[in-house]
Amino acid sequence: TTQPVNVTVTGAAGQIGYALLFRIASGQMLGPDTPVRLRLLEIPQGVKAAEGTAMELDDCAFPLLAGIDIHDDPRAGFEGANVALLVGARPRGPGMERADLLEANGGIFKPQGEAINAVAADDVKVLVVGNPANTNALIAASNAPDVPKDRFTAMTRLDHNRALSQVAARAGVPVAEVRRLTIWGNHSASQYPDLFHADVAGRPGSELAQDRAWLLDDFVPTVAKRGAAIIDARGASSAASAANAAVDHVHDWVLGTPEGDWTSAGIWSDGSYGVPEGIMSSFPVTSAGGPGATWDVVPDLEIGELSRERIDASVAELVEERDAVRGLGLI
Ligand code: NAI
Repeated sequence: TTQPVNVTVTGAAGQIGYALLFRIASGQMLGPDTPVRLRLLEIPQGVKAAEGTAMELDDCAFPLLAGIDIHDDPRAGFEGANVALLVGARPRGPGMERADLLEANGGIFKPQGEAINAVAADDVKVLVVGNPANTNALIAASNAPDVPKDRFTAMTRLDHNRALSQVAARAGVPVAEVRRLTIWGNHSASQYPDLFHADVAGRPGSELAQDRAWLLDDFVPTVAKRGAAIIDARGASSAASAANAAVDHVHDWVLGTPEGDWTSAGIWSDGSYGVPEGIMSSFPVTSAGGPGATWDVVPDLEIGELSRERIDASVAELVEERDAVRGLGLI
C-alpha cells in the first residue's frame, strides 16, 4: 500500500478551503491511487469552523482520506508536510495602503516560511494562493533558507484558466483545444496573458491577436479584472474556481503537464526572459512529474515588442513589492 501524502491547507475554514478540501480528499489533486492525510491550519477563531468542515469530510467516507487533524500553530500544522497550500491571508481592509497589506501578510507568511523550513518533509512543495500571492510566496521562500527556492510557487493558474476560457469563446472552439497560453508577471491587474504562442484548435494564437482592439481592450483586461467581475456578480470573491486552479496546479506539478502543452505558475525567477532573479513571477512552465518534479520555464519563446512592454510593467510592480517587503525587514 502507498504511504499517505501529507497535505497541509491553511485558511481551511475559509471559502476557498471549503471548495478545495473535498477535491483533495476525493483524489482529484494527487490522483486516484494516492491516499492523503489532511492537516488543516487556521487561526484560533477559525478552528471551530474547520472542525465542522472536517466532520463533513468524514461524512463523505472518501476511501483515499487517511486522516485529518486541525491546528492553530504553524509548527504543528506543517509537520511532515509534503504539499502545503497556503490559502489563508490577510485581505485588504478599508483604508489599508499597500505597505500595510504587505506588512500584515508578512506577519503570516514569514512565520509560515520558518515553520516549513523547520518541520516540513524534505520533498515539500508549496503553493501560495493567499494574496498578494507572488510576494507572499517570496516572503515564505526567503524565510525557509534550507528549502530549495523552486519548491515555493504562487498561483496564477486561475488567471491561466480564465484566459483559456476567454480564447475558446472568442474562437468558438472547445476549451480543450486551446493550448500554450501564458500568464506573465504578477497575479494582479498588471498581469499579462500572452496569446502569441498559443495553439487555438490548430491555428496560431497570433492570428487572433491581430485584432489589437479585441486583444488589448477586451481579452487582456477581461482576464486581468475577472476577479473583480466575479465579486460584482456573486457578492463574494472567486472560490470554487480558485480551488479548482489550486488542484490543477498541484496535479500538474506532481503528475506532469500534458505533452505539447504548458501552463503558468509564479516561480522564483532564475533570470529567464529578462525577469530579475529572485522575484516570484509567473512564467510559461512545464513539469515532468514524478518525485522531485520541478517547474521548468519553457525556453526560447520569441517575445515581441507589445508583450515585452506588458511583461516589463508587471515585473516592475513585483520589483516594487519586493523592495517594499525588503524595506520592512520581511525578507
Ligand atoms: P476567506 O476569508 O474566506 O478565508 C480565509 C481563511 O484564512 C479564514 O478562515 C481565516 O481565518 C484564515 N486565516 C487567516 N490568517 C491565517 C493564518 N495566519 N493561518 C491560517 N489561516 C488563516 O478567504 P478566501 O476567499 O478563502 O480566499 C483566501 C485567499 O485567497 C485570499 O487572500 C484571496 O485574495 C486569495 N485568492 C487568490 C487567488 C489567486 O488566483 N491567487 C484567487 C482567489 C482568491
